[in-house]
Amino acid sequence: MIRLENVSKSYKIDEETTFFALKDATLEIKEKEFISIIGPSGSGKSTLMHLIGLLDKPSRGEIIIQNKKISRLDDDQISTLRNEFVGFVFQQFNLIPKLTVLENILLPTVYARKKIDYDPTDKAIDLLKKFGLYEKRNSYPNKISGGQQQRVAILRALIMEPKLILADEPTGNLDSKTGKGIMELLKLLNEKEKLTIAVVTHEVDIASYAKRIVNVRDGKIMK
Ligand SMILES: Nc1ncnc2c1ncn2[C@@H]1O[C@H](COP(=O)(O)OP(=O)(O)OP(=O)(O)O)[C@@H](O)[C@H]1O
Ligand SMILES: [Mg+2]
Repeated sequence: MIRLENVSKSYKIDEETTFFALKDATLEIKEKEFISIIGPSGSGKSTLMHLIGLLDKPSRGEIIIQNKKISRLDDDQISTLRNEFVGFVFQQFNLIPKLTVLENILLPTVYARKKIDYDPTDKAIDLLKKFGLYEKRNSYPNKISGGQQQRVAILRALIMEPKLILADEPTGNLDSKTGKGIMELLKLLNEKEKLTIAVVTHEVDIASYAKRIVNVRDGKIMK
């Protein structure tokens, strides 16, 4: 589904110094896989995730997504591909405070770059019912718990029917029990809905929900 071939991401610090946030990363994520990316702070996990999610471009190397070489696409084509393909979940939920739960979930459909062949509201309502949040549909984010906010953020990612869910420290702002609930939900999405999932974390407990663990150290993927 997605392959990184010798991908590096570097930043020029000054005239003489180039810093490699990621160095020669080769990684393949297959359809329906559930992987976790683990490593200490600053090791390059988010950098790797931004590259996989097409939020960022490599300094060197190639990213191939569904047989398309990213280097051959222009920015507009990359945005379209990202929009069709990837759903993001973040540590800080990133919900819009002035929108209700239902409105937050519908937001990606407002800016959609792909044709949506279903009724977004019907789909949002279905998701809310399925994941036990229907009663909260008209609540504002600050009136629901952290775990519920993260579940809303996951539903917001699901509304566009992505193939790949990328979650960067999705449990980082939650207590361990609530965090495990979120991981159970992601596991369910992988097993039942056949979604491909990659979770970034620095906790072994959280990483172990995945079927495969990728270790990152000092910008390198460890074997
Ligand atoms: N724009 C930038 N310019 C220079 N260095 C950067 C830039 N963005 C990230 N870095 C550096 O790249 C390295 C990897 O950063 P990254 O955010 O991927 O780490 P991480 O593993 O996600 O860490 P954390 O667990 O703290 O989120 C860090 O040393 C960081 O300081
Ligand atoms: Mg990070």
